[in-house]
Amino acid sequence: MQNLYSIYDCVIRELPKIHNRAGNITPISANVHLPFKIERVYYLYDIPGGSIRGGHAHRSMHQLIVSASGSFDVLIDDGINRKVVNLNRPYFGLYITPGIWRELLNFSSGAICLVLASTQYDESDYIRDYSQFKEAYYGN
Ligand code: TYD
Repeated sequence: MQNLYSIYDCVIRELPKIHNRAGNITPISANVHLPFKIERVYYLYDIPGGSIRGGHAHRSMHQLIVSASGSFDVLIDDGINRKVVNLNRPYFGLYITPGIWRELLNFSSGAICLVLASTQYDESDYIRDYSQFKEAYYGN
């Protein structure tokens, strides 16, 4: 299976920010602010310091990851190149295509990681072993 995507397809998307003296709003609409239709939303919270989340790739799911509160780093890896993206604003999201290994780390205290996903939860969509990930796309 060829990897159709690379880390260069995983871009920061700026989301709308509606300013209000009493607090801001960021709306996210399927097919307007995202290149996929949202099927599922989940969020990570109460994350103990030093935790590393993720550690997998998805075969077909697209995601947008947003730091709804606090900050954390997202390491993305397409099997050839890797980079680390810091998320620290609720109006920026990191779009992650299928075929990308990701790890989430360096969570600040109280961080909330909001994930918008293109599919329902499906364990068979996960590749949870890095060598299997490399093998799936590059055969080594
Ligand atoms: P996982 O996606 O591995 O978490 P992370 O990448 O944030 O470290 O999911 C952790 C556990 O939660 C795993 O047993 C599957 C379960 N889970 C669901 O049941 N439904 C979901 O929508 C998600 C995201 C996870």
